[in-house]
Amino acid sequence: MEQTLNHETRGRLTKDGIRIYDDADFAGMHAAGRLAAEILDAMAPLVFPGQTTGAIDRRITEMVEEAGATSATIGYKGYKHASCISVNHVVCHGIPGDKVLKDGDILNIDVTVIVDGWFGDTSRMYVAGKLPRKAERLIEITHNALMLGIEAVKPGNTFGDIGHAIQGYVESHRMSVVRDFCGHGLGRVFHAPPNVLHYGRPGTGAVLEPGMFFTIEPMVNLGRPETKTLADDWTAVTRDKSLSAQFEHSVGVTEDGAEIFTLSPAGKFHPTY
Ligand code: MF3
Ligand code: CO
Ligand code: CO
Repeated sequence: MEQTLNHETRGRLTKDGIRIYDDADFAGMHAAGRLAAEILDAMAPLVFPGQTTGAIDRRITEMVEEAGATSATIGYKGYKHASCISVNHVVCHGIPGDKVLKDGDILNIDVTVIVDGWFGDTSRMYVAGKLPRKAERLIEITHNALMLGIEAVKPGNTFGDIGHAIQGYVESHRMSVVRDFCGHGLGRVFHAPPNVLHYGRPGTGAVLEPGMFFTIEPMVNLGRPETKTLADDWTAVTRDKSLSAQFEHSVGVTEDGAEIFTLSPAGKFHPTY
């Protein structure tokens, strides 16, 4: 099956091992990214106090099937679900299940789909019931940080410029950037070079070129940046139990900036509007 191949021969590799895709490949990424974003658009009504994360994941599984697409996460390194759902102090890779959402819980839903062999990977924040003030601030800063990172995406800039834009903004608001997880190249594979760090120094790291496809997916904590992984080997939490938020887009470098493959067709991104 085409999508289980994890080698790839399209385009060329840079000296840093980053694949440069062709102009025609943007359309494939756009279709995959759009489906992932449409699935996230449909999630808001499913997030409410009393709901389980497992029920949300089941609807995602159905939507992937209804679209004739494939979940990238089911079967990935033994993972069994079509999404990661990370509640409150869970930083990422929360496993959907019997957990019941309660009023004021914030959660990240992360979906990766494969459409015609192309991967679309995106996540957003949601709230069950009323959004607490502190959580709203965290979510806004995290979304702004992602968009500032994307603004730094253009040929000639470096990956360090992206990380610096995110880190400088987040820390100026006295929040912290998680170091233990990063964005990644993707395309016809789920995770490829480079590691896209959400912190860094301007002018460092590989130089961006048109045709690079990767995710930016900053995780921001209200407290300290350290994480630990629970005994299930997936769930990453903040060590100090502080709230954590994340947004993720899949992007491609164009001649003069970035194309965001996973923008919501409905213009949604915020948990309450
Ligand atoms: N979608 C996640 C990412 O942004 C990866 C999830 S892998 C899983 O890279 F197995 F935990 F689903
Ligand atoms: Co990702
Ligand atoms: Co993801």
